[in-house]
Amino acid sequence: MNQVIDLLKNHRSIRKFKPESVSNEKVHTIIEAAGWAATSNFIQAYTVIRVKNKETRKQIAALAGPQPWVELSPLFLVFCADLKRAQTACHYENKEMVPGYTEQFIISTVDVALAAQNAMIAAESLGLGGVYIGGIRNDPETVCKLLKIPDHVYPVFGMCLGYPDENQEQKPRLPVRMILNSEYYQEDNTDLEKYNEICKDYYQTRTNFSREDTWTRQISIMMSNPARPHMKAFLKKRGFEFK
Ligand SMILES: Cc1cc2nc3c(=O)[nH]c(=O)nc-3n(C[C@H](O)[C@H](O)[C@H](O)COP(=O)(O)O)c2cc1C
Repeated sequence: MNQVIDLLKNHRSIRKFKPESVSNEKVHTIIEAAGWAATSNFIQAYTVIRVKNKETRKQIAALAGPQPWVELSPLFLVFCADLKRAQTACHYENKEMVPGYTEQFIISTVDVALAAQNAMIAAESLGLGGVYIGGIRNDPETVCKLLKIPDHVYPVFGMCLGYPDENQEQKPRLPVRMILNSEYYQEDNTDLEKYNEICKDYYQTRTNFSREDTWTRQISIMMSNPARPHMKAFLKKRGFEFK
C-alpha cells in the first residue's frame, strides 16, 4: 500500500542480534522519533534509560527471565513512565503536584507506550529489529535500584534493539473483523476457531521452537494465573496510587 504500512505489517520481535553496534546518531534519531508521539496534555511523561553497563545488563537479564538477549543486544533501553518532571514543572510554577491519581498512572503509562512504539517503528525503519521486555516487571524494585530510578517514575518495560540475526516467521494477528466493531460493542467470535488453527499452524511450522499451541490456549494459561501481584504495592511505593 505504502512504505509505512508495509513496514508496520512486517513487524516481528527480534531476540538474536548481530554484534554490530548501533551508532549514537541512530540512537538519537530513534529517541527523537519516540518524542514525536502524541502525548496526553503535552505532558511527555517518559524517560528512556540506555543501559550499557555489562553487570547491570546481566542482572536485568537474569531477573527478567532469564532473557539472555537483554545482556547480548547491542542496545538496551528501559522505558519509564515519568511524573517527576511534571512535579518539577509544578515546583517551577510554585505549585504542588497532587500525585496518586489513577488517571495520572494511565496518562504516563500510555504516554511511554506510545513513545516506545514510535521508537520501535523508527528502529525498524533503520534496518534494526527488537523486542519489548515486560520481564523487567518481575522485579521492578531491583530495576529501580540498579538504574537509580526515583519516586514518581517507574520502569514500564525494556527494549532490546540491534541488527537482526534471525528471520522469524511473523506471528499471525487477529483478523480485522474481530477487532473492528461498528457503532457499538459486538463480540464476534465466528473467526476464533479459524484464528486458533492459523496460530496452531504457525507454532507447528515455525523454524525456531516449534510446538503445539493455539491462541486461546496461550491466553487462557496467562489469564488464569496471577499477574505480577507485587505491582500494586510497588506502584504505590513509587507514588503511583489509584485514587
Ligand atoms: C509491553 C510488552 C512486553 C513484552 N515483553 C516481552 C518479554 O519480556 N520478553 C519477550 O521475549 N517478548 C516480550 N514481548 C514481545 C511479545 O511477546 C510479542 O510482541 C508478541 O508475542 C507478538 O510477537 P511479535 O512481536 O513477534 O509479532 C513484549 C511485548 C510487549 C508489547
